Amino acid sequence: MKQNTTFHTADGRPLPTSLKLVFTNAARIPAVNDMFNPANKLKIDPQDYVVKRETSLFNKQMSNGHGTLLVDNKGSAFALTMAWHTTANDNKNKPYHRYTEMGTTLTSMAGFHSAQAVVAALALHQWWNHNPKNKIVAEILEENIASQKLFSDTLQWSIVKRKATTKDISDRCNTNVVEDNNGGKPHHWFECKKESIAAMARAILNIADRGTLNRKDGHSIAIDLSALDDVGLTRPRLEAMASGITAKRALRGIAP
Ligand SMILES: CC(C)(COP(=O)(O)OP(=O)(O)OC[C@H]1O[C@@H](n2cnc3c(N)ncnc32)[C@H](O)[C@@H]1OP(=O)(O)O)[C@@H](O)C(=O)NCCC(=O)NCCS
Repeated sequence: MKQNTTFHTADGRPLPTSLKLVFTNAARIPAVNDMFNPANKLKIDPQDYVVKRETSLFNKQMSNGHGTLLVDNKGSAFALTMAWHTTANDNKNKPYHRYTEMGTTLTSMAGFHSAQAVVAALALHQWWNHNPKNKIVAEILEENIASQKLFSDTLQWSIVKRKATTKDISDRCNTNVVEDNNGGKPHHWFECKKESIAAMARAILNIADRGTLNRKDGHSIAIDLSALDDVGLTRPRLEAMASGITAKRALRGIAP
């Protein structure tokens, strides 16, 4: 029987009354695997936009805190995004962190704009604590309007235009993809720029000020973003980022 989406998530769970943003660790893997259970994943992502990654790498990134989740008080996951690190060798043949791909973005709560909380939190954390040498990027299909709105309109990411750059990003970011049903469809690579840092900080502050995720019908869910403090993204720093400051030295000098 079809569930009533007014009170249920896309995968048929009752909507939570409160959520907490968490950075991932090994203990969170089962909750994320539940979202990827094929029956649930089909309901959350019917177009199969989220591509599957190698399990060992998936578990490694989860364990090392390179994912964010929205979880309820029992630890069930309702929204997810992950950061994928790619390496290249320098001219002395030493590997370095070249790009970070933000991907695996999924939310089971349509209409709450919940993805901006997980994406902004993780992209800011990556930029602040694990910045790659080149770019933080995301691959988005032209037909995926919800994702375009999120990255382009809300979070102010920009399309990478240079062909040689998009080829390099594609080659490196697709090495750990094991199942890509979207291959060949028109897409863009988006990159996180200075204005994106400001927009993402503003998005986080707006959610923190409201204290809730809201849907147009008036339904709201309390949200706790305190995990951001633990990775150094304190309110005074976020306020500075939101005002356009991206110099890390200046930001580090701001008392937490
Ligand atoms: C993409 C995704 C993460 C966005 O999450 P979100 O921003 O929290 O989604 P919401 O449901 O709150 O919708 C946000 C906006 O997109 C719009 N939208 C959602 N689905 C849409 C669709 N299929 N077509 C057009 N617009 C859509 C909503 O109307 C809303 O618009 P508004 O800002 O004008 O109110 C989520 O839709 C999702 O999990 N999709 C399946 C997996 C996926 O595509 N992942 C991204 C891969 S790059």
